Amino acid sequence: MPARLFLSSGDLVADRRYDFARDLQLRGDLPAAADLLQQAIELAPNFASAWFTLGEIREQLDESEAAIAAFHKARAADPLDRHGAGLRLMRLDAEPLAGMPPAYVQVLFDQYAPRFESALVGDLGYRGPALLFKAVLSVRLAAKKPAFFKRAIDLGCGTGLAAAAFAKEVDHFIGVDLSPRMIDKAHATGLYAELEVADILQGLRGRPDAAADLILAADVMVYVADLAPILSEAARALAPGGLIAFTTETHDGEDVLLGEGLRYSHSVACVRASVATAGLKLSHLDNLSARNEDNVPAPGLVVVATKT
Ligand SMILES: C[S@@+](CC[C@H](N)C(=O)[O-])C[C@H]1O[C@@H](n2cnc3c(N)ncnc32)[C@H](O)[C@@H]1O
Repeated sequence: MPARLFLSSGDLVADRRYDFARDLQLRGDLPAAADLLQQAIELAPNFASAWFTLGEIREQLDESEAAIAAFHKARAADPLDRHGAGLRLMRLDAEPLAGMPPAYVQVLFDQYAPRFESALVGDLGYRGPALLFKAVLSVRLAAKKPAFFKRAIDLGCGTGLAAAAFAKEVDHFIGVDLSPRMIDKAHATGLYAELEVADILQGLRGRPDAAADLILAADVMVYVADLAPILSEAARALAPGGLIAFTTETHDGEDVLLGEGLRYSHSVACVRASVATAGLKLSHLDNLSARNEDNVPAPGLVVVATKT
């Protein structure tokens, strides 16, 4: 995982107590770590990193109420919520399921960028782009249409792995990602005609009607709670006959969950409903895993929907 985010309190002594507390936390001395964090917070009451870490420790100690209070303080101290305290509150059932704070996603992937490909492809056996490629080819074959696309938009393009898988079949690739460091990596591949640092919904909204004949979202919908707005905007941005292909993680229930790994998991029912709400036709839905979690395939879906 990426290095842990640290936002200095601006008070040297408070920052040093935080460092000691982290050492203690990592060594398993949770009560002592919590004590030190409380001391740091007394010195610097708006110390977001200390509040966030205290929330984690309270959670580790099974003190849910105290954890919830600390995560609320962490978010109040950093309204952009770069630590993702809001996600922890959702996991603790203290708040209803909602979207991810964009600043959290940006920081996460900015930190991850240098090691992203070795971690995802090497350690987690990532295979999302290859699965999407196979699914798109099979949909095109069934429709008796060539698998060649003039303009494609790669949502959450990351370092460019999906564009690499489709490079021979696409004329003009546009990449959109929240993380400037991931975009830098994508730029270095030379695969994209255009790259934009933006949220995927904003990125789609900035495109004219019928601007693309293929839209990809490889391992990105796991960071999106509600698929319907993205799919609706994709439907508008697709030319008739165009495709959107995406992977997501899934579970046996009915709704959307935020998993332990802080990734959303969409049920098949919820994917079908979102595709229908967007006015798209579901052309392909397969239970296939795009990556491993704890050395076993994480349950996943590969989906292709068509603009009719
Ligand atoms: C796991 S990576 C996958 C990258 C790439 N699609 C691939 O297959 O290797 C997820 C990417 O989605 C981006 N991302 C997540 N949520 C986003 C959002 N709402 N808007 C734009 N980018 C987002 C992240 O910054 C990250 O680069």
